[in-house]
Parts: sequence; structure tokens; C-alpha cells
Amino acid sequence: MANGQLSRAEALAFSGYRHACHVMLYSDTKSLLFGRTPIKHVILMQMRFDGLLGFPGGFVNQSQESLEAGLCRELQEELGVALSISEDDHVDARHAPRTAPCSPRLITHFYVKKLTEEQIKEVEQASASTARDHGQEVLGMVRVPLYTTKNGGGLSSFLSHAFIGNARTQLLDSLLRLRLLAPEDLHKALKHSMKTHA
Ligand code: GTP
Ligand code: MN
Ligand code: MN
Ligand code: MN
Ligand code: MN
Ligand code: MN
Repeated sequence: MANGQLSRAEALAFSGYRHACHVMLYSDTKSLLFGRTPIKHVILMQMRFDGLLGFPGGFVNQSQESLEAGLCRELQEELGVALSISEDDHVDARHAPRTAPCSPRLITHFYVKKLTEEQIKEVEQASASTARDHGQEVLGMVRVPLYTTKNGGGLSSFLSHAFIGNARTQLLDSLLRLRLLAPEDLHKALKHSMKTHA
């Protein structure tokens, strides 16, 4: 795969690495903001304990579980729901930059899974009530605004927050690959984002 991206098999062939798996859960929606602006898609991210935005998921215990089993365990802990994520949902993997010279080498895997709007609402409810990690590792789930408001807010303001690792790139790549947003709308949001925060 290109641009430093690894397939699932390529990533697993490295020895001496820790692996972490995260997933973008999303759905279509017909609902409107203020009765007029189409929301189009619900995309779930989370506010992490460290104040950074990221996707649900976490470290895999490789001696005990497959990548997907580890991801599902993390989703159970962080969201309070049992979801089945399969190898087919794997998008890519990459080497995470080392945060300190002594920190262990890490490969982060990214998955996407389309749910129904009803399932997304169940995830939101469980994550705020029965999820073990709610209020601890996970401060709350958030939806990604895909629209741009008249004053340039919406997606552009969302993108100006701080993200963990390459979660921001994972989000932007997914919006284009899954055609959840037109490229020109993304460029508009990124332009406003730079104007407001340069
Ligand atoms: P602990 O149980 O506290 O160890 O957390 P966890 O297992 O839930 O792990 P976490 O979700 O923090 O993910 C593990 C590592 O993967 C993090 O330290 C980050 O380096 C990285 N990471 C976390 N979230 C994301 C994400 O959304 N995208 C990417 N690319 N990397 C992430
Ligand atoms: Mn209102
Ligand atoms: Mn976790
Ligand atoms: Mn996590
Ligand atoms: Mn964990
Ligand atoms: Mn944990």
C-alpha cells in the first residue's frame, strides 16, 4: 500500500511491535439541523481523557486475542456495546511516531463500520450510561459536523481541535474515500479552518 500505509498482513509481519486498533462508526441520516441543513451522516468520535479527539478502540493484547477481538473488547469497555468488527472492515495500518526514544514501537490499525442510525443512537446511549470507561478514559462521544455554517463554522471549527495520533487524517481520508463529503466542501472547510486559526 502507498504512503507508508500497511495492509493488515504486512503490519502483522513486523515483530516486536505493539498494535492498537480504532474504528470509525458511522451511519446515514435524513435529519436536518435547524430544520434546513442536512446532517447527512453521523460519524462518532470521542473526547479522550487527555483532552484529545480520537476514535474508539485501543491496545490489543496480542498474546491473547486477534486484532479484531481486541478492538471489540475495547469497544465493549469504551462504548458499552458488543459490535462485530471483521477483517473486511480493516482500512489500513501505519507506524505511529515514537513519543519518546524509550517508548515501545506501535502500529495503529484503522477500521470503518457502517451502522444504522438506530444502532448509532444505541452506542451513544450505552457509552454515556453503562460503558465501563465512561468518565474515566472516555469523557464522551461526539458527532462530527459535516456542514459549514454561514460564518465558516461547523466542520472547520471541529477540525481545529487537537487530535490524537493521525486521527484527524484518518477522519479526512475516510470522508473522501467513503464519499461522505464532496472534495470541494472539504476544501472549503479546510480553507476556513486555516483562516480562523492560522
Ligand atoms: P489504555 O487502556 O489506557 O491503555 O488505552 P487504550 O487501550 O484505550 O488505548 P488508546 O485508545 O489510547 O490507543 C492506544 C494508542 O493508539 C494511543 O496511545 C495513541 O498513540 C494511539 N491512538 C489512540 N487513538 C487513536 C486514533 O483515533 N487514531 C490513531 N491513529 N491512533 C490512536
Ligand atoms: Mn437550538
Ligand atoms: Mn480503552
Ligand atoms: Mn481507547
Ligand atoms: Mn486498553
Ligand atoms: Mn484501559
